Amino acid sequence: MRQAGRYMPEYRALRERHSLLTLCRTPELAVEVTLQPVNALGVDAAILFSDILLPLDPLGIPFDFQAGEGPVIERPIRSRSDIDRLRAFEPREELAKPLEAIRLLRRTLEVPLIGFAGAPFTLASYAIEGGHSSHFALTKRLMYENPAAWHALASLLASVVGEYLGAQIEAGAQAVQLFDSWVGALDEADYREFVLPHTAAIFDRLRGVDAPTIHFGTGTGHLLAVQREAGGDVIGVDWRTPLDVGWSRIGRAAVQGNLDPAALFAPRERLLARVDDVLRQAGGRPGHIFNLGHGILPGTPVENVRAVVEHVHRRTAVPSMRPQ
Ligand code: CP3
Repeated sequence: MRQAGRYMPEYRALRERHSLLTLCRTPELAVEVTLQPVNALGVDAAILFSDILLPLDPLGIPFDFQAGEGPVIERPIRSRSDIDRLRAFEPREELAKPLEAIRLLRRTLEVPLIGFAGAPFTLASYAIEGGHSSHFALTKRLMYENPAAWHALASLLASVVGEYLGAQIEAGAQAVQLFDSWVGALDEADYREFVLPHTAAIFDRLRGVDAPTIHFGTGTGHLLAVQREAGGDVIGVDWRTPLDVGWSRIGRAAVQGNLDPAALFAPRERLLARVDDVLRQAGGRPGHIFNLGHGILPGTPVENVRAVVEHVHRRTAVPSMRPQ
């Protein structure tokens, strides 16, 4: 996640000439940014350059990214009538640009391509709060005061996102990741009542597709088991929960994680020791995907990211498969 981004000079150079949304909505540029980290870092898979918020606009929730503020929703969704005005759409038409980027990428990429989308809770929280939030008070207020309106919004998001992920796989994505980045703000009872049915509907829609699914959240140490119930072949463990503790809560599934992205600022020795900790907790079990426990931070030294990739390859490679 967030392989590309502001820590890379080649990305910043493109961002001087184009807005984030222009990069996402111009297939040739999205392809270029997707390839930047693959070429610079030697990672084993590429993640499509796009953003989880793109489906909001065709739903009827216009937004923009503002410097220093992150996403800003023009007219936040706060009432039943706001929700009734939203419309489902065909992602193959309204999100044709990122789907085209996927098709173009598959012609040149030599590593697998991961597509992605935002989960209903995380998308709804942006739509309701109007941008980033610390406490999700407005989102929870809508859930508690008007559960029927919440469920209408979440099920609309689930149907659009499920269809969009299906379309990404048709276009050539070889795995898809569902980001429920902020769902850790809920306790398990609220997760079961307000989130589980909708997130499960997305994974049900994807049952039988020819691509593994990854289910990711942050601050979800207390929710890992119920997230596994909702679905996903792979469950993401963020950096706050030790990987082995998280894995025992998840049970039988693959796991992805979970180096603290801030560890990339540490001196080399400490950084690689932290990588070794993660690998030790995985214990060589099949089904571990080494990754950061959340997105890479602006200002991260690129050479440290490269050192981590090389170190993980050295420690985990099957020698005959990696002649270098
Ligand atoms: O290689 C990649 O970077 C993949 C592309 C990618 C982006 N966003 C591009 C982007 C991915 C996978 C995302 C997912 C995304 N977007 C998430 C889920 C992942 C997570 O971090 O939990 C979320 C919550 C969003 C919404 C979003 N987009 C926010 C909150 C922000 C502003 C945050 C900030 O750091 O300022 C964005 C902007 C955004 N999307 C950037 C990038 C590279 C920041 C860089 C820029 O402004 O050019």
